[in-house]
Amino acid sequence: MSTSPASDQISSMMHETRVFSPPPEFSAGAHVKSLAELQSLRTQAESNIVGFWEDRARDLSWFKQWDTAFQWKNPFAKWFAGGKINASYNCLDRHLGSWRRNKAALIWEGEPGELRTLTYQTLHYQVCQFANVLKSLNVHKGDVVGIYMGMVPEAVIAMLACSRIGATHNVVFGGFSAEALRDRMNDSKAVCVITQDGVYRRGAFVPLKPAVDQALSQVETVKHVVVFQRNPDAEISMTIGRDHWWHQRTAAVDGNCPAEELDSEHPLFILYTSGSTGKPKGIYHTTGGYLTQAAYTTKVVFDMRDDDLYFCSADIGWITGHSYVTYGPLMNGTTVLMYEGVPNYPAPDRFWDMIERHRVTILYTAPTAIRSFMKAGESHALKHDLSSLRLLGTVGEPINPEAWIWYHTYIGNSKCPIVDTWWQTETGAIMVSPFPGATPTKPGTATLPLPGIMADVVRKDGTPCEANEGGYLVVKHPWPSMLRTVFGDDERYIKTYWSDFPETPEHIGYYFTGDGARKDEDGFIWIMGRVDDVVNVSGHRLGTAEVESALVSHPSVAEAAVVARPDELKGSALVAFVTLKTNADTTMPMNELKEQLRNHVAKEIGAIAKPDDVRFTEALPKTRSGKIMRRLLREIASGNAVTGDTTTLEDFSVLENLRTADDE
Ligand code: WT7
Repeated sequence: MSTSPASDQISSMMHETRVFSPPPEFSAGAHVKSLAELQSLRTQAESNIVGFWEDRARDLSWFKQWDTAFQWKNPFAKWFAGGKINASYNCLDRHLGSWRRNKAALIWEGEPGELRTLTYQTLHYQVCQFANVLKSLNVHKGDVVGIYMGMVPEAVIAMLACSRIGATHNVVFGGFSAEALRDRMNDSKAVCVITQDGVYRRGAFVPLKPAVDQALSQVETVKHVVVFQRNPDAEISMTIGRDHWWHQRTAAVDGNCPAEELDSEHPLFILYTSGSTGKPKGIYHTTGGYLTQAAYTTKVVFDMRDDDLYFCSADIGWITGHSYVTYGPLMNGTTVLMYEGVPNYPAPDRFWDMIERHRVTILYTAPTAIRSFMKAGESHALKHDLSSLRLLGTVGEPINPEAWIWYHTYIGNSKCPIVDTWWQTETGAIMVSPFPGATPTKPGTATLPLPGIMADVVRKDGTPCEANEGGYLVVKHPWPSMLRTVFGDDERYIKTYWSDFPETPEHIGYYFTGDGARKDEDGFIWIMGRVDDVVNVSGHRLGTAEVESALVSHPSVAEAAVVARPDELKGSALVAFVTLKTNADTTMPMNELKEQLRNHVAKEIGAIAKPDDVRFTEALPKTRSGKIMRRLLREIASGNAVTGDTTTLEDFSVLENLRTADDE
């Protein structure tokens, strides 16, 4: 990737330039109340980064203090080594000695509408019971346990029961196929799988257990399966000797199960994520450092208070569900709203209806969801009283300024700060984000690295970029919640994350995020997307995310994905896949609209960014987590056959349609 500054001049021209300062009423009650206060935390962290994180670690409950706060054996880190700690204890037991034992930990809403509330005391009881179930099935400290479930409280109970006894959980998103589950169980050598008969999704009961049966026919290591019964009327087959009903096993055990005193570096979980190759990577996280950063970021980024009702729409199958549905909020004694189903069932206003009924105060969701709400129209939100909301968050991809403004205006009633949080499965916890009571925000940027996080934008040679010069997003000092390795593959860990910016006599190696970014004149970080999504057109680098942002700012466009295809003259040419809003003007000839969109991009960014080709499609192919499958689009754009792993496709028909459109 070149470091030509041209694209950066381009990008600075198109961004929403308004600055949104934290509302004074919000700042007054916030944990961090001003920029000055935030700056002093930053200065403190810069003068002693390890000491800064040690102070944060002291907010947790340790059975034994650590001996060494930080150890580095390039590129392998240890945080708080010698310390003894337990994640489940920090989420549950530490609250039982206070009034919080009777506070709601989880308020759960099923898609059909059932409600369940679990207090910290009852959640503790159920976790202890289930931990005893695992023990009765010979699951020991150090064993890996697969969790293949939907969004039910038992999924959280399963995670906490594992961590209570020192078993390492490996959660596989319930939307993944049997093949994906099989590969993840085999790669991690899981000994047990926790699942459920099925889940409610878009009004239907979707079975999960058959996928487990299919997967396990090719897994040797799994000896036991525990099945939570979501629907007593569902008929499922149970393999005698291997499969056990959750309710039957828990009825047979007591609720006494002290938390294991585990080493700080004991593996808490493995979570698989896609890399640039077909084989997913098992991102390996440990305990003390992960908990420290998950707890701290939950407190300061979401400004968590005891009277909040916090709703994070992420599935526990993703890192967001680990850090910001389960561990972070529960360590803070938060009340978490957990929802089973899809956002638009039975109607497009399901989220707004839930927010009104439960009086949700904090909403954390993804730009892709916001854009689909936008597409459905604000009338659905305006029907509801959303005045309980005080803070909004986003994560997962760059948010285009139009979606930011829409979120701010219609969901946040123009009063809620928005925290755009940048992080990754690998980073474990939030790394770059506003502090909602302190940081002025600009739509489209995650703003500044947190205190104690040395994120920066550098050139290929590791030297820092100038303001507005595009480069690579790196982290220059290890952080507590970082991945420790790729499970079973130290080589891949080194190659993927630590070989682009290796150690020099002046500095330790930099962690490479895989993202391209630029820092503006205020030091705010603008993510340009994964570097493989950053393309070089006639020697000018363009963030495909930026071109997409320009396209979706056109009144007719709902969503856009831009990819590169090889071009003899320019190196790469841009191909835009565009879905139109339902209210778009369809009387205009398509060629005219294409030309209009190309000119719109030229107007927003510059002629250089004009897509060479605009293709209209009914929908974009997405993974079940909502990420656009750019690899597939690139192959379609280049006229290649679609190859490789497509197990995460949300809807194969979308891909089929694209290919058919291509043939025409
Ligand atoms: C990649 C990580 C972190 C939980 C969900 C995704 C992109 C993430 C942002 C943001 C711009 C973002 C990056 C990153 N990303 N958050 N706020 N602004 N881009 O986790 O699947 O590990 O993906 O998502 O490209 O590298 P993930």
